[in-house]
Amino acid sequence: MSLFELQWRGGATAKRLHQRRTGIDDLPWGTLATADYDPKHQLEARAIWSNGVFTEYASAAAFSALTTAMLECGAPVDLVAACADIVVDEMFHVELSSRLTMELGGALPIEFDLANVSPAPSTHRPLMKAAELALVTSCVSESLSVPAMARSRVLATEPLCRAVLDRLLVDEGPHSRLGFWFLDWAAAELTDAERAELAATAVTTIEAYASLWQDAPCESCPLPLGLGGHDDIGKQDLRNAVQQMIARPLARYGIELDAQRVAQLVA
Ligand SMILES: [Fe+2]
Ligand SMILES: [Fe+2]
Repeated sequence: MSLFELQWRGGATAKRLHQRRTGIDDLPWGTLATADYDPKHQLEARAIWSNGVFTEYASAAAFSALTTAMLECGAPVDLVAACADIVVDEMFHVELSSRLTMELGGALPIEFDLANVSPAPSTHRPLMKAAELALVTSCVSESLSVPAMARSRVLATEPLCRAVLDRLLVDEGPHSRLGFWFLDWAAAELTDAERAELAATAVTTIEAYASLWQDAPCESCPLPLGLGGHDDIGKQDLRNAVQQMIARPLARYGIELDAQRVAQLVA
């Protein structure tokens, strides 16, 4: 196991990124009133944002795998281009989140072998492989990340945290749409068995996130709300998203999630 660490090259590659993702220097860097926060809250904020950096990095790997899978099944050119462009969004999010983490006092160590950062290889035919990645990465994961981030944005009081969350949120909407755009094109070609398998995969993926809204409220946990934390309303937003942003739209493509299981998960 190794420590998750980022490298930055600078020069022509940094310039190219910032020509395509503009405005980073306009954010209110250097304004965090960290001295006003209880050290426990500050530590929790560093943990939340360190994890956020890793999540953005893992999203880049997932959309990168999806881009390759889409190329292998001959998906529409503009759709593949949008997916590849989302990889760049996610790397820009890595930059934004890691700069914020540094201003909070630095990252907390995360042990992770980057050799395992990409989704597990699949034995499915190319179309199904892409459908599975689109469903897990976009239709489920990104559809949950939008309300989580939106709630953090509502609670955030620090101008820098608000500005970073605003910038992330602008991009996350389309990230959660891309999977459905893929299904617009691919769903009619999927077999009933493949749709049933995708439905089961969606439920398993939702299960993997369920602790986000099922965790019992912790009276003593430091909640760095002003710095990008969460609350019980955020948990309810996630439960609603499972039904409204995931289960219902997937059913329109014949991907019918086990209603009873989903109801149990969001109960
Ligand atoms: Fe992101
Ligand atoms: Fe994203």
